Amino acid sequence: MRGGGAAAATPLLVRALRGEEVERVPAWIMRQAGRYLPEYRELRARHGFLECCTTPALAAEITLQPMRRFPLDAAILFADIMTPLDLAGVPIEFAPGPRLAAPVRDGVSAAALGDPAALARRLEGGYLRETFALIRAGLPAGAALLGFAGSPFTVACYVVEGGGGKGEFPALRRLARTDAAALRVLLDRIAEFTIAYLREQVAAGADAVQVFDSWGGILDGDGYAAWDLPWIARIVDALRPSGVPVILYAGGAGGRLPAAAATGVHALSVDHREPLDSVRARVGGGVVLQGNLDPAALFAPADALRAEVARVLRAGGGRRHVFNLGHGIWPETPMEGVSTLLDAVRAGGPVSP
Ligand code: CP3
Repeated sequence: MRGGGAAAATPLLVRALRGEEVERVPAWIMRQAGRYLPEYRELRARHGFLECCTTPALAAEITLQPMRRFPLDAAILFADIMTPLDLAGVPIEFAPGPRLAAPVRDGVSAAALGDPAALARRLEGGYLRETFALIRAGLPAGAALLGFAGSPFTVACYVVEGGGGKGEFPALRRLARTDAAALRVLLDRIAEFTIAYLREQVAAGADAVQVFDSWGGILDGDGYAAWDLPWIARIVDALRPSGVPVILYAGGAGGRLPAAAATGVHALSVDHREPLDSVRARVGGGVVLQGNLDPAALFAPADALRAEVARVLRAGGGRRHVFNLGHGIWPETPMEGVSTLLDAVRAGGPVSP
């Protein structure tokens, strides 16, 4: 027995993230709340995106929408990786991706981006407490509640470029070579916003948090070590005293996954490019792996989708594995695909040690 009632109440996902032996592999889906759901589109027709992110009743409702349709093992707070900057007063629009009218490309603008201490004061005991309480009240028994933020590097990609562009972010990559000091000021500032934001999510009751590093893969190995990992490690260090597990989505990290694991994260969420068994061989047994079905697989006929789910489960090895996609779900995804996927994960059967 592990502490009786209290242990029994610990969500399956959290036990899996701690590396415990679990009765089955938990599953949730990156970007599970959003445009593939008609009820999300209906709500968005009446409310702005940023309004949805920071209004407790709207954010909680959208967070819970996929939980009502599907047997997911976690809900994830509805927000965006740019939300902390929005809350810090940085003018941002969504069309549909983030747009900044005033991209930050020098140290003075980076330092003027907003005051992290003021953001922390504004967040403390504020709208996130109410949002998490509303989500908790509607959360199915046994489901975990996840918080999240972007990695400072990935958020900086948008802040320096002024938008998503072609996903190559040349403005930031140039800045790293022309004014490294400015980029450092910017990443420090975003990291401080992020730590304040995640600490408040933890105080509001997040069971675990995920840091989305969608764009680290555009850097070469030296750049990844210089401009991405140190700020992720800082976030992990800041959250460590809370004991709350941290998942890192390391999109495109490939051969750098062992370096990403060395930041001290509890779990690495990996994209679909490489099977989990070969990732496991490189990162060792210490870290939980999350992933990594290709989001395109949700468009396949049910039998083919089930076969792909089974393949991912086998590669995950049944232990220290959380099922997810390799990247966020696509807006055009048929909802039957999501049901088929989650049923197939549950039918994966009990895990043999
Ligand atoms: O997972 C969830 O259900 C929570 C919601 C969530 C959103 N954005 C809502 C959203 C999460 C976890 C994010 C993370 C995010 N945002 C990332 C990292 C994950 C990834 O996909 O790589 C990134 C890079 C962003 C930045 C961003 N926000 C982009 C590029 C876009 C436009 C394209 C897109 O993928 O949707 C957004 C807008 C956005 N964020 C929408 C939603 C539901 C669509 C906005 C709308 O409703 O019009």
